[in-house]
Amino acid sequence: QADPTGCPISARAAAFDPFEDGYQQDPPGYVEWSREEEPVFYSPVLGYWVVTRYDDIKAIFRDNHTFSPAVALEKITPTGEEANAVLASYDYGIDRTLVNEDEPAHMPRRRALMQPFSPEELAHHEEKVRTLAREYVDSFVDDGRADLVDQMFWEIPLTVALDFLGVPDEDKPTLRKYSIAHTVNTWGRPKPEEQVAVAHAVGNFWQYAGTVLEKMREHPDEPGWMQYGVRTRKELPEVVTDSYLHSMMMAGIVAAHETTANALANAVKLLLEHREIWEAICADPSLIPNTVEECLRVNGSQAAWRRITTRDTTVGGIDIPAGSRILMVSSSGNLDRRRFEDPAMVDVRRDDAADHLTFGYGAHQCLGKNLARLEMQIILDELTRRLPHLRAAEQEFTYVPNTSFRGPEHLWVEWNPELNPERADA
Ligand code: HEM
Repeated sequence: QADPTGCPISARAAAFDPFEDGYQQDPPGYVEWSREEEPVFYSPVLGYWVVTRYDDIKAIFRDNHTFSPAVALEKITPTGEEANAVLASYDYGIDRTLVNEDEPAHMPRRRALMQPFSPEELAHHEEKVRTLAREYVDSFVDDGRADLVDQMFWEIPLTVALDFLGVPDEDKPTLRKYSIAHTVNTWGRPKPEEQVAVAHAVGNFWQYAGTVLEKMREHPDEPGWMQYGVRTRKELPEVVTDSYLHSMMMAGIVAAHETTANALANAVKLLLEHREIWEAICADPSLIPNTVEECLRVNGSQAAWRRITTRDTTVGGIDIPAGSRILMVSSSGNLDRRRFEDPAMVDVRRDDAADHLTFGYGAHQCLGKNLARLEMQIILDELTRRLPHLRAAEQEFTYVPNTSFRGPEHLWVEWNPELNPERADA
């Protein structure tokens, strides 16, 4: 086999398949051979160029003109006619949001919509997150066993995401149901028989997002990022368009929810697997903010992100033609020994931990990163204070097969409730 420039493809590049369990379990481990020997390769399974070293990935993120984000939300597995007809029957039309918008449209829109992410605005969410964290821990603290994903990590970021967007309480349960379908539809490989069911869920999600948006338009003064967008649209209609608002209403939930839920599960799993670190942060909570960064670096929730080239270019010395799709395995860049000393070591005192690529980099870098950090820090603080004796139960970890959003579907933990510190304090 040859790549699109005619160069022969190595056996390992030909075998690369991100829907395999090996990639799901450990993306940077799965591409270690590439990081060391063939850092830019063409994957015929995916039809993408794959990039695995830190500097190459950062250079791509830095130049969003040559490496356009237009494909960031494109379906990685094209669906069949039947599923496409189902999507069309719902008028499904997710379009440009922020994350997949090219310049010159992107930056003015990003600036126009940034204010709700400012530290002053995020401070309003802090108390809510703290209350939620306390309530969820209350609900299982005496049980001695819990699935932290189902019983806490999936729920809190979803509630925070819906609050952040300004979704009315009565619509939260329905939007909750739909959000996972979008991930499978966009970044997954649903089997042909699943594609139609996924298409119905995505179609319903799309329509429901539109209905909720209509409600928001009627009460534009309510708090919420979407209402902020509705108000901004009045002043800058050519910057914040109707199509943008509808697409963002759907994509925003996933951007804010699954990323953070997965990041929490990955972080706590990693810390419980490194008991001495868990105990260190239980003893000294001031380590938590940097611990969060180190967890995002070593075991982040964004395994990879995409771009498409707008002209002939080179990446890491390899010629890549215009119109090529690129998968940047950012989780691999985070473990690049050329950038991080002893990269696989979990070192919560590492002073450059926050230089990870899990939030992307450059013009499109995650706008919600500080909200995600806030949630992770508060939840870790609550867990380490109230359940310092937490241990991971024996279990096999499973992941939703997709290239980008990564976190275990369940995280079972155990502890002896009789040893809960709050019982001793009572
Ligand atoms: C963009 C990851 C949480 C909103 C992105 C990008 C990544 C990412 C990889 C693309 C960056 C690029 O192209 O350079 C994450 C991770 C999160 C997280 C790992 C949690 C741990 C959130 C939250 C929100 C959010 C909580 C919203 C409240 C956004 C938005 C963009 C974005 C609006 C688009 C920015 C732009 O293109 O200008 N995020 N995200 N994210 N994220 Fe996040």
